[in-house]
Amino acid sequence: MLRTLEAAGGGPRLDFAEFPWGTGYYLEKGRMAPDGFTDTLRAFDAVLLGAVGDPRVPDHITLWGLLLPMRQVFDLYVNLRPARTLPGVPCPLRGYGPGERPIDITFIRENTEGEYSGQGARFYAGTPRELVLQHSAFSRVGVERVLRYSFELARKTGRKLTGVSKGNALNFSAVFWDQIWSELRREYADVEVDTYLVDAMAMHLVRDPGRFQIVVASNLFADILTDLGAGITGGLGLAASAEINPEGGAPGVFEPVHGSAPDIAGKGIANPLAAILSAGMLCEHNGLGEWGAAIDRAITAVLADPQAPRTPDLGGRASTAEVTDAVVARLRAG
Ligand code: IPM
Ligand code: MN
Repeated sequence: MLRTLEAAGGGPRLDFAEFPWGTGYYLEKGRMAPDGFTDTLRAFDAVLLGAVGDPRVPDHITLWGLLLPMRQVFDLYVNLRPARTLPGVPCPLRGYGPGERPIDITFIRENTEGEYSGQGARFYAGTPRELVLQHSAFSRVGVERVLRYSFELARKTGRKLTGVSKGNALNFSAVFWDQIWSELRREYADVEVDTYLVDAMAMHLVRDPGRFQIVVASNLFADILTDLGAGITGGLGLAASAEINPEGGAPGVFEPVHGSAPDIAGKGIANPLAAILSAGMLCEHNGLGEWGAAIDRAITAVLADPQAPRTPDLGGRASTAEVTDAVVARLRAG
């Protein structure tokens, strides 16, 4: 991933520092990262996060020790997750194969609150009366800013905006979300919109994803829908993400959507393209749009070339390194 960034244009203009934080660090030191790690990261323009997770460490410890605090402390309220069909990548849906209808959806996931507030309680632990609460937190600021970002993006790009909610069942949180959606909708009357309940949305994404362009949803709903989005386009090996605070003031976090894939970890066959696409998004959101575009073009060219190496998840036999080399070679060729 770092090699790709260098090849995209920038050796000398890029300054990297690598931190060994993650589950390996945890197994040694009993914590995912040192105290104050977000202060250390704050000095950087952007964070490129590799895969974290290990079957020996419970996932909620892994995630609440590293990734989720970054989202909250840096207030990275927009999580952009594109789901698009790419040349040469088989699509499991009928009518969306090569030369047919494309899928090109930008998911916007609220990334700091909602169902991921991290707040709750456990009472009477281990007794028959055991009771667990997991709170969802929806603030006016939190909902309004992510919806406003989505409306603005739709207006700027002339694309349709789909709002996803569940106001029929979540009579406080989703009703509040819907209320703020309606307020903003009046302000953005020129933007084409539609809305779906999240369960219906899951069905439509499988039956007719071509109708969606920009989709906004709360933290958990969009978490689920973006895995579905990856599943109908090229799998998690191609799913990239940008977690940003559009107002700036903190580094964005750019990461492949997949975890550490323990089933194939260490075999050198993980698809590097999601990480490289995430590096491209890092460029795009840090004033290096040309490099981002170059990375995108190189990946598209590699995928479109039937002779180019591909990893097993895309039906090939190549290693992570071979696919990375192919992308780097494309970038060098210009
Ligand atoms: C993601 C991941 C994380 C999330 C997990 C690992 C906590 O699934 O980035 O989509 O749910 O946010
Ligand atoms: Mn997820």
